[in-house]
Amino acid sequence: MAWQEIDIPSTIRSLPYHDGAEHLIDTVNEAIEAFMLADQEVIENFVTCDFHLLDQAMTWIQQNHLLAGNRFCELGAGFAAGAMLASLRGMESVGIEIEPNLVSAAQDVADELHNDAQIYCGSIVPRDVEELAEISLEVRNVTTDEDDVYDEIGLELDDFDLFFAFPWPGEQGFFETLVDARGSVGALLLTYRGRDGMHLLRKV
Ligand SMILES: C[S@@+](CC[C@H](N)C(=O)[O-])C[C@H]1O[C@@H](n2cnc3c(N)ncnc32)[C@H](O)[C@@H]1O
Repeated sequence: MAWQEIDIPSTIRSLPYHDGAEHLIDTVNEAIEAFMLADQEVIENFVTCDFHLLDQAMTWIQQNHLLAGNRFCELGAGFAAGAMLASLRGMESVGIEIEPNLVSAAQDVADELHNDAQIYCGSIVPRDVEELAEISLEVRNVTTDEDDVYDEIGLELDDFDLFFAFPWPGEQGFFETLVDARGSVGALLLTYRGRDGMHLLRKV
């Protein structure tokens, strides 16, 4: 694997939110609360990242001209807040989520907000990636079955410039292997690491 680590300073927490981001985040959070209260079936793999910090990290990435292009992909999108925040700032944005109930609830929010993020139901795991076979045995919180949606999206992993994922502790290596195997050189992988904030890598 060849990655360049890019330090995101902790001062990003004082960056202003993008226009409309706070309203978007409030709307998503309200929808998530309603979903949690109404849904009988608990989706164990679904937890949310710090959406405000994600918005600030994207601002910092744009301010520092780190993007090779304008395409964003949220890997394991949940309510697709990341994909919607990226679309809000003018990126061509896709969210991929495997749980149909989450996809439909996320789509309702995107419709309500007139947000253009494209939210797809299916797996982020592409077919026939040998490099993923071994590491798939080590992850519990990513569904590693191959049922990918890239044909439906009409884009492949190497078409995206910025990926975002919120891996469960110890599972970030899966996302690194995925982007390393199929992403393009120059692509950025942003991950949320809980208390340790945002982490940024560039494939070189
Ligand atoms: C930790 S949550 C993160 C949600 C969102 N990205 C966020 O940061 O708030 C991970 C999500 O990945 C989804 N997921 C797990 N395996 C997946 C797969 N193979 N393809 C697509 N989504 C997957 C889970 O259903 C869950 O909603």
